[in-house]
Amino acid sequence: MKKKVVRENDYLNSDKVFDKLVSYISKNGVQNAIFPIFKTKDFALYNNDCLEVMTRFPDNYIDMVFADPPYMLSNNGFTCQNGRMVSVNKGKWDKSKGFEQDLNFHEEWISECKRILKPSGTIWISGTYHSIYQCGYLLQKLGFHILNDITWFKPNASPNLSCRFFTASHETLIWARKDKNAKHYFDYKSMKEGHFPEDQLKKEKSQMRSVWSLNTPSSAEKEFGKHPTQKPLALLRRIIKASTKDGDIIFDPFNGGGTTGIASVQISNRKYIGCEIDLKFINLTIKKYQSLNMTQKLFN
Ligand SMILES: C[S@@+](CC[C@H](N)C(=O)[O-])C[C@H]1O[C@@H](n2cnc3c(N)ncnc32)[C@H](O)[C@@H]1O
Repeated sequence: MKKKVVRENDYLNSDKVFDKLVSYISKNGVQNAIFPIFKTKDFALYNNDCLEVMTRFPDNYIDMVFADPPYMLSNNGFTCQNGRMVSVNKGKWDKSKGFEQDLNFHEEWISECKRILKPSGTIWISGTYHSIYQCGYLLQKLGFHILNDITWFKPNASPNLSCRFFTASHETLIWARKDKNAKHYFDYKSMKEGHFPEDQLKKEKSQMRSVWSLNTPSSAEKEFGKHPTQKPLALLRRIIKASTKDGDIIFDPFNGGGTTGIASVQISNRKYIGCEIDLKFINLTIKKYQSLNMTQKLFN
């Protein structure tokens, strides 16, 4: 199938560009057209496998990808939550299919992200050691240029039950640009001078370093329901503020409970597209979006 060429002028009006992209995704491939299950002027959600949706995107269209892929750690272990022993299993989607199959899965979606990102675009991938080294290897293999690896330190991480090794209390986020020679966007000033009271490591008016101290999501962030691997909004707000500007289109192939989308609406003037295979997490995201929208209308 011949891919449509996207002209530079198309980027001028971000509302039109966003609508055009969503309708392009629906028409591209024609047979078994894919439509968003939820769509507003700045938010589109697909209840589909991300690969199915991404293969319909035109080339070079997305400004930033944030991906929190399955960690492949749901293998019947135990952890501690609120003083209780609970299974580590997050869901069927999080089970490892073995090293090679997991690597192939990551290679497929990261390759598609590369194709759909603008040359100046960047990608963020989060994970623990179960997946992040595979993703980091693939980013390098596929020709991305790594800008940073961020350590998200969780001061309130759960204790270790076995007492036979260290307590896992961080995740790693890799930030990479698509093209080594392209100029990527970084809001240096707001990272240095912004206000980050939730982070005990960030000193006022000093450069933002690569270790971020942020608690896991509070119960207020779970008021509409829980996602088993929900990211804190403060983490996503920081990422979006640092690496996107007004009018940018942000894509999250693994929407989960919609943290990326909700943070992009909170930052404002961003467009968001998310894919999620589980309808209950799509519904959770819609509830959060509608509540935020109502609050923003009240305050405007
Ligand atoms: C690690 S979670 C993302 C959590 C999210 N960052 C949040 O803060 O809520 C990964 C999500 O991807 C979904 N998922 C797994 N495989 C998928 C696929 N191939 N396409 C779309 N979604 C998928 C799972 O259902 C799960 O909700």
